[in-house]
Amino acid sequence: MKTAFHNLAPDGTRVPVRFDGQELLLLEGANLAAALLEAGVSRVRRSPVSGAARGPFCMMGACFDCLVVMGGVSQQACMLEVSAGMDIAPGKGPRDEG
Ligand code: FES
Repeated sequence: MKTAFHNLAPDGTRVPVRFDGQELLLLEGANLAAALLEAGVSRVRRSPVSGAARGPFCMMGACFDCLVVMGGVSQQACMLEVSAGMDIAPGKGPRDEG
């Protein structure tokens, strides 16, 4: 898929990851938010207040617009690395304070 984002260092192993039921091949070890953007996934959650679509913005853990759910826990995609078999759901609300 052609997107506005592309990887400047595309060499490496691509591994299967699921996002919202869709299988994607992402670069292993890449920043998850960046890899999702590269794959054409720019909306990873909806605002719990307005319902507006949100996607990775700051890429440094400050805005929380990249929240996704993995293993039942809300996490910032920009703080995670891609690994094989990730099963990611769109974020549903505020980050869990666990
Ligand atoms: S993109 Fe802002 S916290 Fe992840």
